[in-house]
Amino acid sequence: MKTLITEDQLREGIRRMAGEIQKHYDGKSLTIVGVLSGSITLVADLIRLLDLPLRVQLIQARCDRAKGVCLGPLVIDEDLLSFGVRGRNVLLVDDIFDTGRTLWDLIPQIDELGPASIRSAVLLMKEKCCQVAIKPDFVGFTIPNEFVVGYGLDYQDRYHNLPHLAALEPNEMT
Ligand code: IMP
Ligand code: MG
Repeated sequence: MKTLITEDQLREGIRRMAGEIQKHYDGKSLTIVGVLSGSITLVADLIRLLDLPLRVQLIQARCDRAKGVCLGPLVIDEDLLSFGVRGRNVLLVDDIFDTGRTLWDLIPQIDELGPASIRSAVLLMKEKCCQVAIKPDFVGFTIPNEFVVGYGLDYQDRYHNLPHLAALEPNEMT
């Protein structure tokens, strides 16, 4: 496993992104919607850097899988989506923008609930990302096309708690 982004670099990148978000929403109220579970660390750090009236909600998105491959659209867990976003400024927060499929599926579903606006923020964006025609509005770091763990991101439910971001070697992904 090799360190890709140190704790200090993470703190600095998140501070910069928080500054951009603060500037964008200045004077408005904000509803942060974090996508479980990878975004919890970012949400926790980000909200403490924002000086805005804000609410926090978490959602779980799932899809029917065959051999690990997602079949059909992502479905938002309805219990967790039972909060109101109508008329609110929603910032969808996720850990990483890889294929882009998660945000591509989630944004129209949240849009149907009638928010005043909807934007997205991710900690990481992969250089060779994007099988979809959208990009996140706020990005912490652009990273090479490697599988990364730590700071909330996991591999088979491990490494969520690494304080820095590391890239796994192929032989560590068995
Ligand atoms: P998407 O391909 O942009 O829809 O990303 C889907 C999800 O895959 C992300 O929210 C992450 O939970 C997970 N993911 C994608 N790339 C990585 C990675 O390098 N490490 C850990 N999780 C990842
Ligand atoms: Mg995720």
